[in-house]
Amino acid sequence: MKIIWYNTIESTNSAMEKERDSLVHKEVWAARLQTAGKGQKGNVWCSDQGANLTFSIYLSHTDLEARHQFMICRAVSLGVCDYLESKGVHATIKWPNDIYVSDRKICGILISHTVSGSKLKDTVAGIGINLNQSVFPDWIPNPTSLKIITGNNYVIEDELPPLAESVFAEYDNICERTAGRYLDRLYLKDTPHIFTDTATGTQFKGVITGVLQDGRLEIKTADGYIRYFAFKEVAY
Ligand code: BTN
Repeated sequence: MKIIWYNTIESTNSAMEKERDSLVHKEVWAARLQTAGKGQKGNVWCSDQGANLTFSIYLSHTDLEARHQFMICRAVSLGVCDYLESKGVHATIKWPNDIYVSDRKICGILISHTVSGSKLKDTVAGIGINLNQSVFPDWIPNPTSLKIITGNNYVIEDELPPLAESVFAEYDNICERTAGRYLDRLYLKDTPHIFTDTATGTQFKGVITGVLQDGRLEIKTADGYIRYFAFKEVAY
């Protein structure tokens, strides 16, 4: 496995995206400190220096249809869950790819793809997983870490290879069962909850019933409708 460690870098995702053409399949870039770590929805990703794993993996695809790109999101999310399971921690996936333990977020994932014609060309998948941090800034909504959960300290350099291997194993074995296993891990699936339609700001009661092949979330509303939401169209 090709792993490059940086002491300081703006963002492993941004840096890899600039070097896409010179990367090899399954290359990993990790940082002890990111000065401009990127989160979803334009947020920053904040992580104490040397405390957690912040890294990106590069995947070069041979024959994946662009319309199947949600498969990558599933595989990366499941790979992180498999790693956490190996640490004795059961995690769930808050759609589309936040990793939760109970009601707290332990890991965020930020994925970008390039497309060539109808095919997916490559992917940069950035993973920020809290290992040793036990105090977080107030503005981070509901964080947790492996240390908070298990009481143990982790050597980040030792944890990266098995975590990356778990993600690669899921990627190498993408199949029909991956979709089912993703659903089995879905946070709040079949649990009544209040959702916000972000386009209108309207709140509604409903239950997550599934995820379509294209990645849209399926919610059965309390008044009996089935609604589908793309990323950012619903908050909960
Ligand atoms: C999220 O908002 O949940 C996604 C967070 C993704 C953070 C990781 S840390 C490594 C990689 N580099 C970045 O700048 N972001 C991702």
